[in-house]
Amino acid sequence: MAESIHLDLFPEGTQLLDDDIVVGGVSLRSIAETYGTPVFVYDETALRDRAREAARNFDDGTAFASKSFLCGAMAKLAHEEGLCIDVATAGELDIVLRAGVPASRIILHGNNKSEVELARAIEAGVRRIVVDSFDEIERLASMVPADGDVACMIRVTPGIEAHTHEFVKTGQEDTKFGFSLTSGDAQRAIDALRAIRGVNFVGLHTHIGSQIYDFAAFGETVRVLAPLVAANGVRELCVGGGLGVAYVAGEPTITITEWAKAVRDAVREAGMDIDLLTTEPGRSIVARAGMTIYSVGTRKVAAGRNYLAVDGGMSDNPRPVLYGSGYEAVMVNRPLAERDGTFRIVGKHCETGDFLIDAAALPESIESGDLIVTPVTGAYGYSMASNYNRVPRPPVVFVSNGTARLVLRRETLDDLVRLEV
Ligand code: LLP
Repeated sequence: MAESIHLDLFPEGTQLLDDDIVVGGVSLRSIAETYGTPVFVYDETALRDRAREAARNFDDGTAFASKSFLCGAMAKLAHEEGLCIDVATAGELDIVLRAGVPASRIILHGNNKSEVELARAIEAGVRRIVVDSFDEIERLASMVPADGDVACMIRVTPGIEAHTHEFVKTGQEDTKFGFSLTSGDAQRAIDALRAIRGVNFVGLHTHIGSQIYDFAAFGETVRVLAPLVAANGVRELCVGGGLGVAYVAGEPTITITEWAKAVRDAVREAGMDIDLLTTEPGRSIVARAGMTIYSVGTRKVAAGRNYLAVDGGMSDNPRPVLYGSGYEAVMVNRPLAERDGTFRIVGKHCETGDFLIDAAALPESIESGDLIVTPVTGAYGYSMASNYNRVPRPPVVFVSNGTARLVLRRETLDDLVRLEV
């Protein structure tokens, strides 16, 4: 049974052999041998399938939320599959532009965009700037040429409580993001934006949070926004990202297609008359496509608990520490072996909170030198990775059709001193 449970967490087509796991036709053991560990592995076919699913189910302008996982290869892939790219900083913007994605396919976000970021976006000619504050409206008014055509959306806070972790909720009133609907700020922002020559107000944006399973929250958001949409003759609505994914066995898996149907139904039920319904999925595109392979180092028992230390930790996956997120581990070199032991999987960092999995089921016989893989690490893992304890960040390998290609090399000790002057 263990086999079927875990396969749900891996990209489609993953095979568990007696002594290896094959993803995208490539052996994970061979990846560990070639590129070392820890290493992030993404099934490129799964990435492309999910990106295409999003592009197909929502309207043009639907964007990949690059904060979930960004490098040149990923930006290019999302663009090739028909998605725009959402960026939230000059850094993300730069990577996407360097990848060759035209500015007309880029959407700029951010609750505190600097003048430099706004200037860069205006000069490049991004598709949309999603405006987040009255200060930003003032900045834009002083920057946009009167004969410009800078397409802007207003980010609205709908006052919806999504059922998700406190740190990734964004739709509630008490938030740093967007303009409140109920206070009238959203309407005032639309009016102020419309008064700026050179700015083209094109629509409304909202994002209620991340890792959300509850379709009712999306439906409610659409419902409360409907009067603002109607009152302003808005033709374009973006409902952000946020679709939840399964991290451990037994959690529900909701497809992008099902999410799209729920949002479209809500738009219809709210009687909303718009031309473009778009979203910005991040996690639902990259999470399950990605995984991390680690080597097991030290094993010990403390206070009756089994500890297994791997060669990465909170520097490559800070999500367990930040949000208490659960993960599973599977032994790469014996995936079908009975998982008769329970281990706390910890990293190599100098703090007690550095754990990846509190109680992982693994074979009791696991030992130093074995390989484990944690599935569903494709979102907000590499993108939030750090150099804590001066640990170089892992490489990223894309696999597809039996071929592996390195898209980000491992950081080196030389990289770590590059900034010293
Ligand atoms: N659009 C906007 C404006 C966002 O702020 C986000 C995520 C997304 C789209 C994409 O949401 P997704 O489809 O990935 O849920 N670091 C946290 C997640 C933070 C989400 C930030 N914003 C985590 O690891 O769970």
